[in-house]
Amino acid sequence: MSRTTSLVQIADEQQLLELERKYCSWGDTVHYLDPPKFFERCEGNYLYDREGTPYLDLQMWYSAASFGYRNKRLRDALEHQLDKLPQLACQYLHPERVEIAAAIARLNHSKFGLDGRVHFNVGGAAAVEDSLKLVRNATGKTLVFAFMGGYHGRTLGASAITSSYRYRRRFGHFSDRAHFVPFPYCFRCPYGKKREDCGLYCVKQFENYFETEYNSFWDAKARESEYAAFYVEAIQGTGGYVIPPPEYFPALKRVLEERKILMVDDEIQMGFYRAGKFWAIENFDVAPDIIVFGKALTNGLNPLSGLWAREELISPAKFPPGSTHSTFSSNPIGTAVALEALRMMEEEDYGRITSRKGAYFLAQIKALQHRYPRVIGDTDGLGLALRIEICQADGHEPDAELTSRIVAEGLKGDLDARDRKMGLVLDVGGYFKNVFTLSPCFDITEEEIDIAIELLEQLIRRCAPDRV
Ligand SMILES: Cc1ncc(COP(=O)(O)O)c(C=O)c1O
Repeated sequence: MSRTTSLVQIADEQQLLELERKYCSWGDTVHYLDPPKFFERCEGNYLYDREGTPYLDLQMWYSAASFGYRNKRLRDALEHQLDKLPQLACQYLHPERVEIAAAIARLNHSKFGLDGRVHFNVGGAAAVEDSLKLVRNATGKTLVFAFMGGYHGRTLGASAITSSYRYRRRFGHFSDRAHFVPFPYCFRCPYGKKREDCGLYCVKQFENYFETEYNSFWDAKARESEYAAFYVEAIQGTGGYVIPPPEYFPALKRVLEERKILMVDDEIQMGFYRAGKFWAIENFDVAPDIIVFGKALTNGLNPLSGLWAREELISPAKFPPGSTHSTFSSNPIGTAVALEALRMMEEEDYGRITSRKGAYFLAQIKALQHRYPRVIGDTDGLGLALRIEICQADGHEPDAELTSRIVAEGLKGDLDARDRKMGLVLDVGGYFKNVFTLSPCFDITEEEIDIAIELLEQLIRRCAPDRV
């Protein structure tokens, strides 16, 4: 092969787009947007394009960068580790790995009164896979429940317990596909009930599975379920930041405990104070058997994921050396950043910060809904996990088309933020792809929240002029 030109060449944005079209796989989510969007730089709440235009980011990498882009304290921890021990095969120990495990185990003991251990991996879905192994190993069973609208990642195992058939359709047979149970999505109750007088009908429907062996879930003579665990997100992330009523999880947990079915709590998106508490499930006063985490633990720097499990499930006798492994699973840069992030979470009162800012943001969102009832059908929030559901003029029929138009318009970067040109980064979730799932940076100020609302208002007026 002749080497007269370099393999890597500097290209402008148009050339890069052409190269991307030709040489990059389209199998990820980049082409959800056409044309895909480039960014050049990030800082705090903002992404910047090549022209230097700031885009206020209300999704912060799907809640992975909760503590702000280029957070100084976490960058310093990363740089310190780069100079000290940046690489180490994870068959050896380094202090940060042990210190994080101990910190999370102690924290969970203080919260739930349970002993447990921590196991690390890299991405969220990989940690979900590890949790599936743990469940199978501890129970000898392979079947699990999961929620309709739930999302646990895109590996084969995680796709099998994620409700969307879209993620499985082209990949053959998924034999251990979860049994999917309706989530308490009260704005669109799957049973057509109203929260005021439903009496938690959805929990009763679930409990009915175990009423007789003929419902297929329960051996009434052995008093044993065929199902080992229930995978839950306390607040559905990709499903549209759907927040269940406070009584839901305690009622569900009672049904599970009576049948010795484990509760696996996926905190990958909502953990680390996104929903006002360290774990989102703490809002619902139940103790899970396994917690899976990832994303914000390293603020999106050098990924680290993992799980915490009750001692009975993960003791060395039960889950011996070599049960599972990944080369980068407890990589020292990830653990160093994570440890600093945990210190930060201990020192700063993020529970109070996210609750206070979340309440302020939600009040502004509700006021926006009040001004635009023919565009916004539902709003809700817990901590800094907030939702805006875009609907048709009747306030209920989902409007996915308008939702994606607003996203694309926000990314043009030509909104007016108090005489400054700005863009808005939004993420879309929800069962009907019509929900803005807002996960702003924890450092967002009240002034920036006001600006975010002004930008949203401009987008609504631009994209739905006939409904304002
Ligand atoms: C609740 C939840 N579980 C699992 C995952 C998968 O994590 P990852 O994309 O890091 O594999 C995600 C990602 O969005 C998630 O939100």
